[in-house]
Amino acid sequence: MSGRRPQLEVVADAATAAARAAELIAARVVAGRARVLGLATGGTMVPLYAHLVAAVRAGRLSLSAVTSFNLDEYVGVAPQMPASFHAYMRLHLLDEADLDPARAHVPDGMAPDLTAEASRYEMAITRAGGIDLQVLGIGANGHIGFNEPGSDFGSRTRVLELSEATRRANAADFPDGAVPERALTMGIATILEAREIVLLAIGAKKAAAIAAAIEGPLSPNCPASALRLHAQVRIICDKAAASQLDGPQADIRRQA
Ligand code: F6R
Repeated sequence: MSGRRPQLEVVADAATAAARAAELIAARVVAGRARVLGLATGGTMVPLYAHLVAAVRAGRLSLSAVTSFNLDEYVGVAPQMPASFHAYMRLHLLDEADLDPARAHVPDGMAPDLTAEASRYEMAITRAGGIDLQVLGIGANGHIGFNEPGSDFGSRTRVLELSEATRRANAADFPDGAVPERALTMGIATILEAREIVLLAIGAKKAAAIAAAIEGPLSPNCPASALRLHAQVRIICDKAAASQLDGPQADIRRQA
């Protein structure tokens, strides 16, 4: 079983890719089609949020009616710690744009009962009416959210062990070397319930994961391959991230 083909958009460089993804998100919000956004963190998203902030400041976009749910948070990292995804969201979006912080949800990695927190988070998403547009990055190992290789396609929000590769990739955020071993993440099934998904991938480090997600087996070994089970997925890449695609999708790359 190979699933559907996501829509693939390959652009010349990283800056153009981030601008394209931000443009798509802003267009959906302005059209009233993204009342509830699913949001990601990480280096890839920094220029994307900068574009959204610029659009808000220029009066072309308002996030004041938006509710957001972030994909994940480290376990044991308090919201006020700079390496937390709470702090990331304040720095890159909440302190800069008009999204109401009371409506911007991030899982609580400090919750005393993490299983209860995972259920609460799922219920909050359901109560908000579900996610209209989910924004994703991708790990070099094919993870989406923190759903590491081996994650079940039916998985829901839960605690999981981060892979060594992911802990190494994110080590720079933890100068004391204390990279958390666990995270709370929306599950793959949770992500696939979003009405529309946009994944942004930048750089040669993501090329193998993008090729596996689009052209490899539909398998938990590459969690992002699960996106082929969804009818409304757009993958926006720069040329470097698309450089290992060699199937029919490569035609699209050549046109870019
Ligand atoms: C972050 C997240 C992760 C990142 C991925 C890529 O909320 O869910 O899946 O999107 O690890 O991270 P960067 O962009 O730092 O390469």
